[in-house]
Amino acid sequence: MLRNDKLDQWDRDNFFHPSTHLAQHARGESPNRVIKTASGVFIEDRDGNKLLDAFAGLYCVNVGYGRQEIAEAIAEQARELAYYHSYVGHGTEASITLSKMILDRAPDHMSKVYFGLGGSDANETNVKLVWYYNNILGRPQKKKIISRWRGYHGSGLVTGSLTGLELFHKKFDLPVEQVIHTTAPYYYRRDNLDQTEEQFVAQCVADLEALIAREGADTIGAFIGEPMLGTGGIVPPPTGYWAAIQDVLQKHDILLIADEVVTGFGRLGTMFGSEHYGIEPDIITIAKGLTSAYAPLSGSIVSDKVWSVLERGTDENGPIGHGWTYSAHPIGAAAGVANLKLLDDLSLIANAGDVGAYLNKTMTDALADHPHVGEVRGDGMICAVEFVKDKANRVFFDPADKIGPQISAKLLEQDKIIARAMPQGDILGFAPPFCLSRAEADQVVDGTLRAVKSVLG
Ligand SMILES: Cc1ncc(COP(=O)(O)O)c(C=O)c1O
Repeated sequence: MLRNDKLDQWDRDNFFHPSTHLAQHARGESPNRVIKTASGVFIEDRDGNKLLDAFAGLYCVNVGYGRQEIAEAIAEQARELAYYHSYVGHGTEASITLSKMILDRAPDHMSKVYFGLGGSDANETNVKLVWYYNNILGRPQKKKIISRWRGYHGSGLVTGSLTGLELFHKKFDLPVEQVIHTTAPYYYRRDNLDQTEEQFVAQCVADLEALIAREGADTIGAFIGEPMLGTGGIVPPPTGYWAAIQDVLQKHDILLIADEVVTGFGRLGTMFGSEHYGIEPDIITIAKGLTSAYAPLSGSIVSDKVWSVLERGTDENGPIGHGWTYSAHPIGAAAGVANLKLLDDLSLIANAGDVGAYLNKTMTDALADHPHVGEVRGDGMICAVEFVKDKANRVFFDPADKIGPQISAKLLEQDKIIARAMPQGDILGFAPPFCLSRAEADQVVDGTLRAVKSVLG
């Protein structure tokens, strides 16, 4: 095929890229890599560079690239029925089958799944459901949502507010007033360095209790959290955190939304992060791994407790006034069915647990002793390396030095490996497809060590 030499210019002239330095990109100061094809854990750009994608896109291509089973399911669905809506009780074989497959895999107390398109709109749905729920229960004041600093829940108006990262608020007039934030369960970045992990969990609980007391429990509808902090730094919860937090929420009759957009469908080596960490959510957010990003699809799984109130609501008020044109889009649903089958058929979740543990161990062995590595952490097929200027005193680098982005750029340049420089702090994140082999894990670790040495010595 002839190469279109105008593509770079068209890109800079016409394409408004998300999460991008717009001015630098338009001026041609940042790369615009055009990705052309992919297979397994590798993507290839149109210049023929083959890159090992150790972040699975945006931790979403969980089954790996180039899966013909999913491509064919999508093509077949498009040929047979590209679209029909799911309003007023309509469905397709794919959407109904997928809802059954999801509920078969979800915790026992979950009841139904509402389908959206991406993680942000699913969390937007969840907030509306919490509000609806409390209105039906006659508690119109109980509406605020508690999120955590460093949580990531999307970038819409409410979901961007839930997201506890400064970049997503700055100059957007967020967070909205119904959203409040509590302490991030991030032991390495605790304020008081003398605290043990147990004392730090007690601190998280005390901070939450204090926030609830300040606002009034009767004004708080829900608490949202990722089982493991993702975009905010890839941080597994400290031991005992979820049990202690759930006690507080139950005491104050506050719903729990587990945002499993990253952890759902196997990232931690278990079907859901909730089962992994002993979380009993009232609502679960799913997206990314539901289709491994072969088509956009998300979901809100609601528990029996929430569902019974929603049913009562429609008996009292008529059909629920919530829906998207593309809710349960047949092509997304067909991709979801094929994806969940593939996870089972190839035992990919077990591989995520097995090779993920290997990746975490080899990364720790190779890097933990480096004088500028503060912490190597992770669980299942997700891992992070956090860099510090002064390890003994835990002094972080000046963000202006861009150490994380420099290391990820070096890794790409030297070893053609993609890792993600996480947006807040000098943290390099890894979340490869579940089909990663041990040899590929070795490649990632070796390349990372080389890149760290190149930048930090
Ligand atoms: C935990 C979590 N929730 C929600 C979202 C938002 O999903 P989307 O980007 O599909 O809107 C993300 C995206 O990374 C996420 O990691």
